[in-house]
Amino acid sequence: MYPLTRYRRLRQSEAVRNLVKETHLTVNDFLAPVFVTEGKGIKEEIASMPGYYRYSLDELTQEIKELWNLGIKSVLLFVKVPDNLKDNKGTEALNSNGLMQRAIKTVKDTAPNMLVMTDVALDPFSSFGHDGIVADGKILNDETVAVLSQMSVSHAMAGADFVAPSDMMDGRILRIRQALDIENFTDTGIMSYSAKYASSFYGPFRDALDSAPGFGDKKTYQMDFANREEAIRETLADIEEGADIVMVKPGLCYLDIVRDLKNTVQTPIAVYQVSGEYAMLKAAANKGWLDHDAVMLEQLIAFKRAGAAIIATYFAKEAARIL
Ligand code: PBG
Repeated sequence: MYPLTRYRRLRQSEAVRNLVKETHLTVNDFLAPVFVTEGKGIKEEIASMPGYYRYSLDELTQEIKELWNLGIKSVLLFVKVPDNLKDNKGTEALNSNGLMQRAIKTVKDTAPNMLVMTDVALDPFSSFGHDGIVADGKILNDETVAVLSQMSVSHAMAGADFVAPSDMMDGRILRIRQALDIENFTDTGIMSYSAKYASSFYGPFRDALDSAPGFGDKKTYQMDFANREEAIRETLADIEEGADIVMVKPGLCYLDIVRDLKNTVQTPIAVYQVSGEYAMLKAAANKGWLDHDAVMLEQLIAFKRAGAAIIATYFAKEAARIL
């Protein structure tokens, strides 16, 4: 009670503030998304994601070295698939010499200790731009899960440490776990996008991979952003099915969900600060309206404070340089 208690005593100097700081951000917290494209000598900037690039495999080598030297030891791979290889069933996703499979090998050849996580979903491979197989305008659940399971095995064979299903089909974690185990990939982990919302913050990412849905939206599989308890249900189900890491996505608008999960589950929680969040800060900073680095660090700390163990972020390199 005032005047016995004066909270400002603990804020008087940087030294005391650091002593009582509750949350610490380090480079170990980051998972860096990496976009890969076909071709040679390609490092192309994504228009809606200034400062972020797609790399051809030869250029990827350099980027992986840079990440490793900055202390970033985990990457999440995404591939941009040429249009002529896209179909309804995502057949190309299973090609053992496909772009993803070659990208995994490239990373492992370049930095053998880099943890490689791979995106598992059909949308970059789908002629419809959907995360599942389409029939009569609907997304088929179980048929899609069968492909995702095979895709996961294919990534594990190429050397992936973790597969990261981002599709939101029901039951896919169990089927993927079973498929991996049958093929003896018992050590391959699963990071489940367990609470993934149907969000308008994914726009720039869909530019990056040319993967926007050709019809409709993703609301029949991604979650309604009005819902909170559903996130807990989805996440508990994924943990029961065998998820090693669970995820909330997007990030900043969903910190309440991160905290709900932190208070409910004992499984490590990842949060994905998505492309639209990155784009917003870049745009505002470019206008001189926000202090880029200060706002970036404030947001990254907020994810940890909310309860995230892992932050998938396009700011990984910039933050690592500051930290
Ligand atoms: C698709 C996928 C998306 C993202 C990651 N995986 C987009 C979507 O669901 O349409 C978004 C990531 C971002 O916006 O940074 N399976």
